[in-house]
Amino acid sequence: MPLQIAKAVFPAAGLGTRFLPATKAQPKEMLPLVDKPLIQYVIEEAVASGIRNITIITGRGKNAIEDHFDVSYELEHVLELRGKQDQLNEVRQISNMINFSYVRQKEALGLGHAILVSRDAVGNEPFAVMLGDDIIDSEVPCLRQMMDLFEKLQASIIATCEVPKSEISHYGVIRGYPVDGFNGRVVRVQDVVEKPSAAEAPSNLAIIGRYILMPEIFGVLEKTASGKGNEIQLTDAIRLLLEQQPVYAYMFQGTRYDAGDKLGFLKATVEFALRRADLGAEFKQYLKSLKL
Ligand code: UTP
Repeated sequence: MPLQIAKAVFPAAGLGTRFLPATKAQPKEMLPLVDKPLIQYVIEEAVASGIRNITIITGRGKNAIEDHFDVSYELEHVLELRGKQDQLNEVRQISNMINFSYVRQKEALGLGHAILVSRDAVGNEPFAVMLGDDIIDSEVPCLRQMMDLFEKLQASIIATCEVPKSEISHYGVIRGYPVDGFNGRVVRVQDVVEKPSAAEAPSNLAIIGRYILMPEIFGVLEKTASGKGNEIQLTDAIRLLLEQQPVYAYMFQGTRYDAGDKLGFLKATVEFALRRADLGAEFKQYLKSLKL
């Protein structure tokens, strides 16, 4: 029987230095996009893709994430007393959506290390990794697109998108060749390079925050030495995995917002607010009145 994806890991133990001082005592993943924390958008993408088991990797100062997805008796009681049924349903839905487990990464030793600490929770099966600050707006949820592709390829898949040369040095970058039969959207990965200079970048295909990984990644992560920034880099581990088995990159359909970055966050806020039935029209009017 072909392998399927049932679990997703959400590494959320990073320090969020790009968003200081907001992230000094508050997790980046809890910054609200309009009125919902970033990570909730991504959890909802996982749920819409069919995932029911989620492991969140947390660290110091990340308690707000656990509280957010927990049952909040006091809040529910107050909403019930006040007859706020819609808000009550919304709050309940969050804690009922999914089976959550939490694993602590004691030190922020890198994304690769964060994934390694999820090993016992995941077990010996392929799984998804989703970064809570990459918000993807798409008709078919990005992870669902990747899970459909996984059913055919039965191999690790990295989500990728084209970025301008001027921004490529912020990303892990793919070197590879297109695979026939997927409308140019699938690339067989030959190498991945972490944050190359524009001149050294092997392509304009940036790795973004969605992955499907085969369980062999854990054995490889164990052997991966600290790389750039003294962190255990997932890209270094993927390079080692490539020596054992094929890895693919997938150009997903949809728009991605880097909401862990201030400008990306502002763009996402404006666009999501404009789309809201309760806010959009008035907000649009306000923006127009600014006469920029
Ligand atoms: P980032 O590279 O975005 O780092 O991590 P960061 O610390 O969150 O943010 P900046 O760059 O300093 O502003 C990518 C993902 O990996 C997680 C982060 O929480 C984020 O979701 N991560 C990173 C960990 O879980 N543990 C780590 O040790 C490092």
